[in-house]
Amino acid sequence: NRMFGDRKLGARSVDEITGSRRLRRMRKADWSRRLVQENRLSVDDLIWPIFVIEGENRREEIAAMPGVYRLTLDLAVKEVEEAAKLGIPAIATFPNIALERRDETGSHILDADNILNKASRAIRDAVPEIGIITDAALDPFTSHGHDGILRDGIIVNDETVAQIAEAAVLQAANGADVVAPSDMMDGRVGAIRDALDANGFQDVAIMSYATKFASAFYGPYREAVGTAGLLKGDKKTYYIDHANSDEAVREAEQDLAEGADMIMVKPGLPYLDIIRRLKDEFAVPTFAYQVSGEYAMIKAAGANGWIDAEKAMHESLLCLKRAGCDGILTYFAPDVARLLKAD
Ligand code: PBG
Repeated sequence: NRMFGDRKLGARSVDEITGSRRLRRMRKADWSRRLVQENRLSVDDLIWPIFVIEGENRREEIAAMPGVYRLTLDLAVKEVEEAAKLGIPAIATFPNIALERRDETGSHILDADNILNKASRAIRDAVPEIGIITDAALDPFTSHGHDGILRDGIIVNDETVAQIAEAAVLQAANGADVVAPSDMMDGRVGAIRDALDANGFQDVAIMSYATKFASAFYGPYREAVGTAGLLKGDKKTYYIDHANSDEAVREAEQDLAEGADMIMVKPGLPYLDIIRRLKDEFAVPTFAYQVSGEYAMIKAAGANGWIDAEKAMHESLLCLKRAGCDGILTYFAPDVARLLKAD
């Protein structure tokens, strides 16, 4: 045995152990690390979710999402202009609807002048180059915060699908480039595709929240859209059990068969295995939603000085890409776009 000081080492040297293979060789300098880097984060990977409200010149804080605001359309349009200048390809809009407009069936989603449709018109007009993705789901519009019509304690599937398909057509007519159903009802992708095509919107794409898991990471979003205090029970009868992976494959397969142009995995970071599986299995445009709880955790730990929030932001997004995403919905989009520009 060899000795190191007075400590006894094993018989073999490191070169004997590794067969002279040294993986640190390519890590030793910045130039070689850059040369062998396998994945990169680019501004082209980003979709920015924003929250819109009625009114003028108002910016409301969201306690659990520091740095994210609910914006009236005048301010939202300015921020979207800024996002387009940074090179962010698309935004996704989510409304916070006045309580008195919410009802049992979420009927206000069928109002051409609801804030979501007004936002599409205003953004389409002012920032024609940016992609607009609208949320075709009932939860911000219902008095109970569920993504479907609630009757006798049950989220009624088929009636909800009919309403979402109608809402999707309205969203397309008001300027949406992509309709994104986030509700997980069975058959909604096919019904939306049929309805869009029947109304002349063949070119409007569908980004399906194909694998949306019943998750504790949506909390801050529910504060943002005002469903936190309303939601009775949970969403386990329609979102996927987070213990499951085969089921996610079946959901994605179904949505693709029904006509989804893009699929999404939600949440993001705890579900890297799902992203990789779907990308390998289907080889279609695949997105991740880095959800509100993921954003909040990074922000909170950063604010406490427990982690470097900027580095954690970049790492979490790059890791989502490494897992196989083509792009990411993230509340960090403008921040990371600025960071990438500065680099
Ligand atoms: C519901 C919906 C959710 C999110 C967006 N749309 C989940 C929910 O409230 O159950 C979550 C987004 C986030 O957490 O950032 N259709």
